[in-house]
Amino acid sequence: MRSPRVLLLGLAVLAGSVTAVACTSGSSPAAPTGDPVLVEGQKVYSSNCAGCHGANGQGGYGKKLSGVVTTDYPDIAAQIALIANGKGAMPGFSQKLSAEQIEAVTRYTREVL
Ligand code: HEC
Repeated sequence: MRSPRVLLLGLAVLAGSVTAVACTSGSSPAAPTGDPVLVEGQKVYSSNCAGCHGANGQGGYGKKLSGVVTTDYPDIAAQIALIANGKGAMPGFSQKLSAEQIEAVTRYTREVL
């Protein structure tokens, strides 16, 4: 039988890796640093959208965004309008975010997620 000390060590290692996974899943994919608009978009996404749509846009309470928004919204203006005005269970962001922030986060969902 294994000694309790070894068992405890194993548990500690397990807990450590679970915490690490939880931490990495909280951050959204990095925007290319050369584009300040996309970098801003990442910040806006992490603080306003990731909670419902998932850190990677994989979906959750809100719809999956990653890889589908350019198909669902061929015209970026239509996507910007949806984010500004909201739809169904999704709140509108026109009061909370500036037009620049909405455009930045829209580009982020189309070009980075
Ligand atoms: C409170 C949860 C919530 C938050 C916060 C939220 N959304 Fe949503 N979002 C939803 C839901 C629910 C839908 C589906 C609405 C429907 O179709 O009725 C949706 C739909 C969308 C769609 C349309 C997807 C499609 O393919 O039809 C886009 C784009 C979108 N959200 C972007 C964003 C962005 C960008 C943010 C942050 C600025 C954001 N959402 C914040 C819940 C949320």
